[in-house]
Amino acid sequence: MEIHTIIEPFRIKTVEHIKFTTREQRQEILAQADYNPFLIKSDDIVIDLLTDSGTGAMSKEQWAAIMLGDEAYAGSPSFFKFEEAVREITGFKNIIPTHQGRAAERILFSVVAKPGKAIPNNTHFDTTRANVEFSGAEAVDLVIPQGKQPSVVHPFKGNMDLGKLEEFIQARGPENIPLCMITVTNNSGGGQPVSLANIRHVKGILSRYGIPLFIDACRFAENAYFIKMREEGCQNRTIKEICQELFSYADGCTMSAKKDGLVNIGGFLAMNDDALAEQCRNMLILTEGFPTYGGLAGRDLEALAIGLREVMDENYLRYRIRTIEYMAEHLRAVGVAMVEPPGGHAVYIDAKHFLPHIPPHHYPAQALVCALYLEGGIRSVEIGSVMFGKPDPATGAEIPATMELVRLAMPRRVYTQAHVDYLIEIISEVYRQRTSIRGVKFIYQAPMLRHFTARFAPV
Ligand code: F0G
Repeated sequence: MEIHTIIEPFRIKTVEHIKFTTREQRQEILAQADYNPFLIKSDDIVIDLLTDSGTGAMSKEQWAAIMLGDEAYAGSPSFFKFEEAVREITGFKNIIPTHQGRAAERILFSVVAKPGKAIPNNTHFDTTRANVEFSGAEAVDLVIPQGKQPSVVHPFKGNMDLGKLEEFIQARGPENIPLCMITVTNNSGGGQPVSLANIRHVKGILSRYGIPLFIDACRFAENAYFIKMREEGCQNRTIKEICQELFSYADGCTMSAKKDGLVNIGGFLAMNDDALAEQCRNMLILTEGFPTYGGLAGRDLEALAIGLREVMDENYLRYRIRTIEYMAEHLRAVGVAMVEPPGGHAVYIDAKHFLPHIPPHHYPAQALVCALYLEGGIRSVEIGSVMFGKPDPATGAEIPATMELVRLAMPRRVYTQAHVDYLIEIISEVYRQRTSIRGVKFIYQAPMLRHFTARFAPV
């Protein structure tokens, strides 16, 4: 008999209690937080889908390894275990630990980028873009057109547009492009995968111009699972083989281990070029620490070495990807529109479709984020005009973002199917009541990255 039920591939040994609140209490909490869930205490959240970053659960093997952590300032055995784990997957020669992904980005771009230079990517994540721009260089997104249309189904919506990449290189001049990045999966485009064929072709183009390729590897294992499921000829390969091939096309990578490293803090920067690595290590010493710990404790490196191997377990990845797909299937059935097909780590609800009566300047996605908290204590994040709205330089009026999305990002190995059934029930109920939801307006905003600290009032 073939078994169809996909169970959580783990038992639970330690539990974290959820504090339940009433609707009245949540009304009060939301008002106190000025309708910005970033300002709610996490104890007051029933299910927290703000991010999948650093929020995962470690295994007993990882917790046991924490006790093996060697805290020597230099040459710790914990570093060598970490280095071996990263090298086994990526094959890179130089492996530099950092405290998280953006530290790796900061070091890399402070060395290679400066005014006049440009860094192409399928889609830069916010911190990647910010670090490129902080160096004075330009961050350019060249994802395929399908990657920008929420309802268009494509197996690899994170793919780079090869024609545009080549045009861009010729227009800007290869000497002005210190490196090209590819983000797997493409977080800002909805957690969408990139195919091996696409990465191979990107590498082919870049090689002709002598431009190195770097992978933003945060969700490399989730991307590899999609390749196994969707790319021709990959069905019988192991996840590790697919990961190894993926990294074999690259000259280096940046990594936030808070995602597919299955740890709560950590990251790394890796590359083959020795001269570049030397410059990066010098920067590392300035801002992170000595090259064998780089902003992490020995115990963090131990847990990471194990997490990188556990994340490639196919039973784990099947459960992980199926969780997102299951949630999406049920939401689709009640009429909720979202970025299709769902990505690896999150469901992105299309708030314009959910709340067509709320205009962009009353922030439909923020209104939906608030409604989900009010109805069921769910914390999600707005990815729309609150995050990306820009003032028109001529008139000062705000230009809304192209998409108004609400991201429900799933922490790794934390929630069970019953939690997901609860999410489906709450979101479906909010959808039934959607015409009664009102928009919000700003009462305070910071000049930069305003979504973190903004304060709102209902319209
Ligand atoms: N690159 C991508 C694709 C990311 O998703 C993130 C973080 C980073 C780089 C930066 O890594 O946080 O360790 O410094 N994404 C988180 C999120 C914050 O919620 O999507 P970091």
